[in-house]
Amino acid sequence: MNKQTKIATLGIAACLMLGILGTAQAAGDAVAGHDKAKTCATCHGADGKGNVPLAGKKADYLAQQLHAFKSGARKQDMMNMLTKNLSDQDIADLAAYFATLK
Ligand code: HEC
Repeated sequence: MNKQTKIATLGIAACLMLGILGTAQAAGDAVAGHDKAKTCATCHGADGKGNVPLAGKKADYLAQQLHAFKSGARKQDMMNMLTKNLSDQDIADLAAYFATLK
């Protein structure tokens, strides 16, 4: 995937938006996830191969980690803060998207 890397705007603002966008209940939608993942690119890379790589991991695993960060069961300040406003749908979409990256 060779999309031009867009410089992510402030993660916090984008995260607040994510909280608003996530409403419907459905399986993960990788296309919607791609949109929501812009804020993640700062640290995880536009291709999912940043400092903490997400590419190549399974959607189930990724969703599990995001829920764990959200609940505080897994601790990492940045991820705890970023997942606070994610809905279940956001998490499913993000997990579906990153799972498509190789
Ligand atoms: C400010 C930097 C930063 C941003 C932005 C960020 N993350 Fe993270 N993320 C991290 C760090 C650091 C870790 C590693 C945490 C640890 O060591 O436990 C991590 C870990 C993760 C993990 C667990 C990976 C694994 O292998 O267990 C997932 C999944 C994840 N992030 C998803 C996301 C998603 C989705 C977004 C966008 C909504 C996002 N992150 C935005 C810094 C960031």
